[in-house]
Amino acid sequence: TGAVGQGEQGWKMSGSKRVAVIPGDGIGPEVVRSALEVLDAAGADFERIFLDIGCGRWQRTGQAMSDEDLAAVKECDCILFGAISTPPDPNYRSVLLRLRKGLDLYANIRPFRGSGLDFIIVRENTEGLYSGLEEVGVEESRTLRVVTRRGSERIAEKACDLATGRRRLTIVHKSNVLRSDRLFLEVCRSVAARRALDCEDMLVDAAAYNLVVNPDRFDVLVTTNLFGDILSDEAAGVIGSLGLCASANVGPAKALFEPIHGSAPDIAGKGIANPVGAIRSGAMMMQWLGEPQMAERIEKAVEAALAGGARTPDLGGQCRTEDITQAVLREMGGQN
Ligand code: NAI
Ligand code: MG
Repeated sequence: TGAVGQGEQGWKMSGSKRVAVIPGDGIGPEVVRSALEVLDAAGADFERIFLDIGCGRWQRTGQAMSDEDLAAVKECDCILFGAISTPPDPNYRSVLLRLRKGLDLYANIRPFRGSGLDFIIVRENTEGLYSGLEEVGVEESRTLRVVTRRGSERIAEKACDLATGRRRLTIVHKSNVLRSDRLFLEVCRSVAARRALDCEDMLVDAAAYNLVVNPDRFDVLVTTNLFGDILSDEAAGVIGSLGLCASANVGPAKALFEPIHGSAPDIAGKGIANPVGAIRSGAMMMQWLGEPQMAERIEKAVEAALAGGARTPDLGGQCRTEDITQAVLREMGGQN
């Protein structure tokens, strides 16, 4: 628990929470269905606004997400998101990037639990090399890496919130080469010092190596956008599968919860996608909505189901998506 923190609105709301559900493409709808079944069984009480957004929609209408969709999303408290395929169009604007920017979802929080490991990667989600400030040429192209004091401060604060009561904060950077990371490092260090947290820093290449050879030395990692993107897929491999991992994209007022995997077109429609990442994303959402006990109950049931041998092919098992859902539901029933 404590992995996502609580939404500012969580306290105020009772009964009438509104969740935008975006199943998306490929295995997105398959795993979101599973997450919703588990949330129902846990007694989660919220209104669902289903939105057809993604590559499928783009193929039919030429638009992946309309301005009305974005407005509808903004009317909701938070979003439960499956996955969206990237359409083969050079002019396509990423839906996730639009949502992250539009809702200012600056903190990407990715807890990794499995194979005896338990750590969290906190990734800055709005700047860095994903600034969108690019010059594209035939002979030369540039992307501007943006690090701001305010952006670094708020991600450091979020990471410190999560590290409080845990072992240690690790600031991951490349400040020996990238001067923009000197600011990131300095700001993160001073926020950690102000909060009296045990803090170290590590170059990103060393962090990538240590994640493989010595992963249990990590507890809470905080880093810039691209490094966090890459390290978190690596971390998923270290704990066993992309299909196990959940994430929260949190902003000042709203949040989006999604498994970290994509639409997995290679297994879509086969009924064998691992729904655990989506189920855990649902649990993180309930925590943010002010239901930490419900979140804990779902996480415990997931861990018990996995320990009981419920495994899809990505984990070397033979279970289908539905078998995992049922195993988690059985474990939740057994808790009563
Ligand atoms: P991917 O995450 O969809 O798949 C990578 C590999 O992991 C595939 O072999 C896939 O079968 C496997 N995998 C992923 N999730 C799984 C699960 N729950 N259970 C079992 N196996 C799973 O990444 P890929 O192939 O690079 O991208 C596919 C599409 O998804 C692309 O169009 C990409 O743009 C999009 N994408 C979307 C994301 C999002 O919506 N957040 C994130 C990453 C990719
Ligand atoms: Mg990624």
